Amino acid sequence: MRSVISLLAFSSSALASWTQNLNYRSPSDHHPGLGISLHKVNKRNVPGTQYTASQLNFTHGVASGDPYSDSVILWTRVAPMFDNVNDNTTVSGYAPLYGHGANLTASTAPVCVQYKVAKSANFTHVESSGTVYTSSDIDYTVKVEAKNLTAFTRYYYQFNVCGSNKTSPLGRTKTAPDANDYTAEVGLAVYSCSNFPFGFFNAYGNPVRKDSVDYVIHLGDYIYEYAGDGDYGYGYSINRIPKPERIITTLYDYRERLATYRTDLDLLASHQNFPWIPVWDDHEVSDNTYRDGASELNNTEASFISDGGVSVDQRKMNAVRAYFEWMPIRQVEMDDNLRIWRSFSIGSLFDLVMLDTRQYDRSITDLYWNTDYVHDISNDAGRSMMGSRQENWFYNQLTQSANRGTAWRLIGSQTVFSRVNESAAYGNTNPLDYDAWDGYQANRNRTLSHLYNNGIGNNIVMSGDSHASWVSDLVWLDHEHYNSSTGNNSIGVEFAGSAVSSPCPYGQNITLQQANNYSSWLVHANEELQWQDLYYRGYFELHVAYDQVTANYFGMPTIINRNPDEISLANFTVKSGANKLQRPVAGGLVESGALKLGQVKQTNATNNTETGVWFVSQANVEDI
Ligand SMILES: *[C@@H]1O[C@H](CO)[C@@H](O)[C@H](O)[C@H]1NC(C)=O
Ligand SMILES: *[C@@H]1O[C@H](CO)[C@@H](O)[C@H](O)[C@H]1NC(C)=O
Ligand SMILES: *[C@@H]1O[C@H](CO)[C@@H](O)[C@H](O)[C@H]1NC(C)=O
Ligand SMILES: *[C@@H]1O[C@H](CO)[C@@H](O)[C@H](O)[C@H]1NC(C)=O
Ligand SMILES: *[C@@H]1O[C@H](CO)[C@@H](O)[C@H](O)[C@H]1NC(C)=O
Ligand SMILES: *[C@@H]1O[C@H](CO)[C@@H](O)[C@H](O)[C@H]1NC(C)=O
Ligand SMILES: *[C@@H]1O[C@H](CO)[C@@H](O)[C@H](O)[C@H]1NC(C)=O
Ligand SMILES: *[C@@H]1O[C@H](CO)[C@@H](O)[C@H](O)[C@H]1NC(C)=O
Ligand SMILES: *[C@@H]1O[C@H](CO)[C@@H](O)[C@H](O)[C@H]1NC(C)=O
Ligand SMILES: *[C@@H]1O[C@H](CO)[C@@H](O)[C@H](O)[C@H]1NC(C)=O
Ligand SMILES: *[C@@H]1O[C@H](CO)[C@@H](O)[C@H](O)[C@H]1NC(C)=O
Ligand SMILES: *[C@@H]1O[C@H](CO)[C@@H](O)[C@H](O)[C@H]1NC(C)=O
Repeated sequence: MRSVISLLAFSSSALASWTQNLNYRSPSDHHPGLGISLHKVNKRNVPGTQYTASQLNFTHGVASGDPYSDSVILWTRVAPMFDNVNDNTTVSGYAPLYGHGANLTASTAPVCVQYKVAKSANFTHVESSGTVYTSSDIDYTVKVEAKNLTAFTRYYYQFNVCGSNKTSPLGRTKTAPDANDYTAEVGLAVYSCSNFPFGFFNAYGNPVRKDSVDYVIHLGDYIYEYAGDGDYGYGYSINRIPKPERIITTLYDYRERLATYRTDLDLLASHQNFPWIPVWDDHEVSDNTYRDGASELNNTEASFISDGGVSVDQRKMNAVRAYFEWMPIRQVEMDDNLRIWRSFSIGSLFDLVMLDTRQYDRSITDLYWNTDYVHDISNDAGRSMMGSRQENWFYNQLTQSANRGTAWRLIGSQTVFSRVNESAAYGNTNPLDYDAWDGYQANRNRTLSHLYNNGIGNNIVMSGDSHASWVSDLVWLDHEHYNSSTGNNSIGVEFAGSAVSSPCPYGQNITLQQANNYSSWLVHANEELQWQDLYYRGYFELHVAYDQVTANYFGMPTIINRNPDEISLANFTVKSGANKLQRPVAGGLVESGALKLGQVKQTNATNNTETGVWFVSQANVEDI
């Protein structure tokens, strides 16, 4: 449908390309009637009404993502500076977030932006560049694909307002290795669940400070949709109040919420320094979403004409559109703007399969009032977390990856894959988390049977959502004769990570002692679960080499202020061909939580003899 695009070509005097700003093309290149009318936007490009460089500002840093071997996505936002928040002539009314400017006569003219990419930060040899427009229609966001790049190479990039020296911050990124290239080692930082009023996103900043990884993986819950009420979490007491101060439902709401999150300095630093490969979970839209609904809003007639006229479907579309505008991700299929499931070849070292087990085509989930029902149907063969189209694609990806001889397969999953008996939390009637893979056992069995029956090994599942750390041998329990102490008959390993800031599922203010007691219970109740920690917020790094994968878990001592501190919680090794955690697991010694076959040392915890409560000593907060 290229002809459609060419019809939209605008005045010959302008060199900028509308279509190169990918955000104009969403939701679909193939259906321009559903997207932004570029023709109409261009009509507003009236000489004399355009903003001058001094009236514009790069408001939310820069970002890059979805690296291929010859291209990468670059992102920024450049918006006019209004100093009157009530000026409803601007679509982006959250001006106070980015400071005050001159009093402008609001113009609807689009803004022209240039970008350049080079191997050195002084841009002596620019290897990719371009000129694009943005406008209020897409929240003044800019998203381009920088092409013509060299594989597995570090690049610097920068945007500027056309014809001026008003520049964005300097960004750094890295392309992927070519699919067949030998690549000795690749490092990933893996995140999930960053809730703004619950604390500072220190976890995002630490790999930047250490310069310890190549890429960042985010498994979802990048934002939360809850009311921005500062009473929520630590909100008011730490001055982190997510705007707008209501449950978000409209396109405007989702944009403003994303904009609030992008004021966290550590999040900005991570985006500025590493290419991200994100997927959403539920909270990018709403709590416990599935294909047709969510926990907050029953999928009833009433919910289609609900609060403010925003229905379940409309809300999802609003969330999805804002997500694509703000996140540096590719739309891999222009005809399907709900599709974020996609894969990456990282040399012959690993293939990365990023799933959408949440929004795309998930069968009904636990909505709290129907837990008994979902428990009853959790083993139904017809249930899927991703729908048959994505499932078939997923299994084919695994097969193709093994066939092309890639050393490892990394699978990004929103929720915890392994079976987890959590009677301690949920009670004995419904001992599992039916919103995780435990509610979709047939889908899990199909995945495991595909791996076992086709002899596909070296599988690493990465998962989020749970706000706690879980490390397990990946095994088809009750089907394969798994041996917990040797790890025999498993088919890989699962590394599930804690939250950046979202609270511990067993209590926001749980003590270390209580948390570790629960962890012990969980590790004993679950055969394949080798290490578990509930107490720490944090992240993990994966360092992938041909002969082994290592996982390093980090906990944040405190997130009620911005600080660079972190505690090494546990390290794991998976040897190529072993398909299980290396024994002794974690070297037999971890810092926190519970280790099935080893000890917990708690070097960084102190028992307060007056209260009898263990707490984590807060190291000096350094100036960062
Ligand atoms: C702003 O919005 C109000 C109410 O929605 C409307 O009455 C007013 O005309 C708008 N002002 C401008 C300048 O568009
Ligand atoms: C431009 O945006 C940056 C980042 O949000 C902000 O720090 C700065 O104060 C803004 N500049 C002006 C003049 O508003
Ligand atoms: C913008 O206008 C408001 C009210 O009209 C005024 O109070 C303010 O000082 C002006 N700001 C600037 C930067 O001129
Ligand atoms: C630009 O940076 C590169 C790499 O740091 C360096 O080799 C080169 O000399 C620099 N060029 C100039 C003109 O400073
Ligand atoms: C591609 O990059 C090379 C240098 O690596 C440069 O000479 C060439 O002009 C670039 N081509 C385009 C279309 O930007
Ligand atoms: C940017 O351009 C303006 C006007 O052209 C000039 O006054 C200013 O010195 C320039 N700033 C830098 C850092 O080059
Ligand atoms: C959804 O429906 C269930 C069952 O009818 C009811 O218990 C629950 O309160 C409803 N929730 C909402 C948010 O309407
Ligand atoms: C899945 O496998 C488990 C054994 O781990 C078995 O108990 C269960 O019935 C299977 N369910 C389906 C739907 O295949
Ligand atoms: C945890 O402690 C904070 C600070 O004292 C308090 O605001 C919050 O309500 C507590 N959370 C819970 C779940 O008790
Ligand atoms: C994990 O490994 C690092 C680097 O080898 C080491 O410094 C750290 O103490 C280890 N952590 C634990 C909990 O053993
Ligand atoms: C954790 O304990 C180690 C060993 O005692 C110490 O070097 C480190 O500073 C501690 N880290 C924090 C954040 O307290
Ligand atoms: C912590 O210290 C108190 C007071 O000495 C003691 O009663 C308690 O058993 C200690 N807790 C642990 C886990 O050792």
